[in-house]
Amino acid sequence: MKTPVIKCENLTKIYKLGETNVQALRGVSFELYAGTYSLLLGPSGCGKSTLLSLVAGLDVPTAGKIFIRGEDLSGLTVDQLAKHRNKKIGMIFQQFNLIQSMTVWENVALPYVFAGMPLLIRKKRAMKLLELVHMEKYANHLPTQLSGGQQQKVAIVRSLMNNPWILLIDEPTGNLDSISANEVMEFIRQLNEKSKRTILLVTHNPDYCKYAQRIMYMKDGKILSIEGGKAPETKETRVKADELSEEALEKM
Ligand SMILES: Nc1ncnc2c1ncn2[C@@H]1O[C@H](COP(=O)(O)OP(=O)(O)O)[C@@H](O)[C@H]1O
Ligand SMILES: [Mg+2]
Repeated sequence: MKTPVIKCENLTKIYKLGETNVQALRGVSFELYAGTYSLLLGPSGCGKSTLLSLVAGLDVPTAGKIFIRGEDLSGLTVDQLAKHRNKKIGMIFQQFNLIQSMTVWENVALPYVFAGMPLLIRKKRAMKLLELVHMEKYANHLPTQLSGGQQQKVAIVRSLMNNPWILLIDEPTGNLDSISANEVMEFIRQLNEKSKRTILLVTHNPDYCKYAQRIMYMKDGKILSIEGGKAPETKETRVKADELSEEALEKM
């Protein structure tokens, strides 16, 4: 049996707000395999963003366990958790989270700054990734000079900079008009299809079911059902997922 890329076991999350407890997750379990694209669909407040932040290692569960390719996140030190976030996870948010004082290519290259890579290598990879979304001509623009859809494309390729195993994407089109939203969703679909990224995308929009292979329905801190499904990873998907290599980039 193959090891899932993400395995969550009976996750509970309780936020303490003064005297009151808010139970955001109530026993969430699922497994995701390499190369699959899953949608986490549910109404506002049901715990979707909380679940992503736990898988990303940004916060810890109150109870339950998360395994990333078999490694228990609760066993990691603070440094190891930071590595987990930087190397294995790419995150994309509704608000893009670009740094306004930096140019487009500098924003994309930021994960390589943290990794201590030299300038030329940073710029080369950032430009290559910008070409993927046909944004290379905006490399020296500032984020404020771009439309929302363009800013989200910049944020998406920034998340690919460190060649992560997993993309965690939270309501990526919440701030976009419908044309830009469809472009962004289509690009994410291609990213899964061609470069075999494992994707978990959070949305409250049921129209997006058509993009993913698996739908996890969530309500009140629980997963109600999981529909669809794809066979666990094959040799081919594993090889392709290993590197978002130069060759893989050329093919996109
Ligand atoms: N940092 C926090 N402190 C307290 N309560 C929170 C916090 N983050 C989320 N919550 C609460 O947890 C529940 C789930 O929130 P969230 O995971 O953001 O849901 P969703 O992303 O599905 O809209 C909500 O009731 C929300 O108010
Ligand atoms: Mg949310």
